[in-house]
Amino acid sequence: MPEGYTVAVVGSGLVGERLVAELKRRAFPIKELHVLARSARRVVLAGETFEVGVAEPDAFEGVDYALFAGTEGEKGAAIQLAHEAISRGAIVIDNGSDFRLDPEVPLVVPEVNAEAVMSHKGIVANPNCSTIQLVVTLAPIAREYGLKKVVVSTYQAVSGAGREGVAALENGREDAFPKPIVGNAVPLIGSVDESGYTTEEKKMKEESRKILALPNLPIFPTAVRIPVHTGHCESVYIETEREATLPEVLEVLGIAPGISFSGDAAGFPTPLEAEGDSRVFVGRIRVEEDAIGYWCVSDNLLKGAATNAVQIIESLIGAPRGVPSVRV
Ligand SMILES: NC(=O)c1ccc[n+]([C@@H]2O[C@H](COP(=O)([O-])OP(=O)(O)OC[C@H]3O[C@@H](n4cnc5c(N)ncnc54)[C@H](OP(=O)(O)O)[C@@H]3O)[C@@H](O)[C@H]2O)c1
Repeated sequence: MPEGYTVAVVGSGLVGERLVAELKRRAFPIKELHVLARSARRVVLAGETFEVGVAEPDAFEGVDYALFAGTEGEKGAAIQLAHEAISRGAIVIDNGSDFRLDPEVPLVVPEVNAEAVMSHKGIVANPNCSTIQLVVTLAPIAREYGLKKVVVSTYQAVSGAGREGVAALENGREDAFPKPIVGNAVPLIGSVDESGYTTEEKKMKEESRKILALPNLPIFPTAVRIPVHTGHCESVYIETEREATLPEVLEVLGIAPGISFSGDAAGFPTPLEAEGDSRVFVGRIRVEEDAIGYWCVSDNLLKGAATNAVQIIESLIGAPRGVPSVRV
């Protein structure tokens, strides 16, 4: 293994800052760490001062891993620059949604489908924050009992909408969400189409099916924004192929990777406890024959974004393109 890697973080917003913090916290072997954004300036991220460079093609010269956390879409950093980074030898991990459903791009949650990174052709996609905590909890149940149907309602923090979302809660601004967020609950995240689902709900359906390799799994999400700073919650109802009992399900969740579970079916984790922790917390577990219900909470900026991205590059270390990697 080389002494360390040159890593570029694109974006110095909420996710960019957590990426810098997670690379340090998990002691990822770094030779040089560059932070890039739309404009050059000096910023303090995770207690360290960085000279932010402009995100432009030549900024990726010599970069081994480029972690994208800019905005999405045609004018966003990933569409504009991911292929420039790859052509200069970098492997890209993208936090946005632009490449997630591309069949050529692995969409990876290491606790669920770490082996998928092996097939990357330069880009690995990091899933949507609500998707990540959902599949971390669904995967062990799918393995043990099989999944027939999933119904999930989310209670999502404002930091899921970046710095603008946080400003809306802290300053009472009314333009960041479709309706005022202070003292409210807004059941519309993204835009709605003729199917009746929002973009956020469609991400949860399609990304979960891809990660779990269950392309026909019925998933019915309802995504709701609530006035919480950080930590997404989900109320999940599953119908399983094989019947389960409560003690069995407690055991299955108790040993599942990435899950924090006290062993108490009636435990009720909240966003305040999950914030700053990289695990998915599970509680309020109920089981009736072929139906399982539970509540899960996770820090949307950590496991929902930065931690998962850093786990992905950890799993890529020592694995040139197309060659098997180490499991995290
Ligand atoms: N927040 C979450 O919970 C979460 C979870 C999972 C995934 N994500 C995804 O992660 C990405 C970043 O989210 P965030 O919450 O960190 O947003 P944010 O706080 O709004 O920060 C966005 C950052 O991206 C930079 N940026 C935007 N367009 C760029 C471009 N064309 N080139 C270079 N840099 C650009 C901005 O640069 P300037 O500072 O120079 O303007 C800013 O630093 C988004 O794609 C989001 O969908 C977010």
